[in-house]
Amino acid sequence: MEHSSCFLANLVKTETKRVLLKVIYQINICQYIVHRHPEFWDNPEKFDPDNFLPSKVNQRPKFAYFPFGAGQRICIGKSFALMEATIILASIFQRFRLELVPQQIELDPTFTLRPKYGVKVKVWKRS
Ligand code: HEM
Repeated sequence: MEHSSCFLANLVKTETKRVLLKVIYQINICQYIVHRHPEFWDNPEKFDPDNFLPSKVNQRPKFAYFPFGAGQRICIGKSFALMEATIILASIFQRFRLELVPQQIELDPTFTLRPKYGVKVKVWKRS
């Protein structure tokens, strides 16, 4: 599968014998596949926020969901991004009600995975 965010993990192992031998292994872990793997998700293609209830999260292996990577090179913006997203979503939903327009969402797998033509919603101002 062609997907730039597949290239996540580099494992470098150095062995010392009579001469210095540098062995490089590269392990690519594809979030697109792991985040949709039927072994970890009941209905992998469905967006279901309930998947992130503590009771569900506790049933999955820790790295079945790793949008910010993991280990030494984990995203340094993780806490900021989660806080930012929470504030933006709360600000929008305090003022507006949104309803998804039924549509086929085409994906644009460039550096990040995003909807190619956006996601259409109907918007109502809350009184
Ligand atoms: C929803 C938002 C974001 C997502 C999903 C995301 C995801 C990721 C992922 C998957 C990695 C690679 C981790 C790895 O190699 O294992 C990464 C690295 C990185 N991210 Fe983010 N990121 C987000 C927001 C941000 C923000 C807001 C910043 C800065 C303010 C940021 C800065 C970085 C940096 C500097 C790295 C490289 C870390 C390193 O190689 O040591 N990211 N991010």
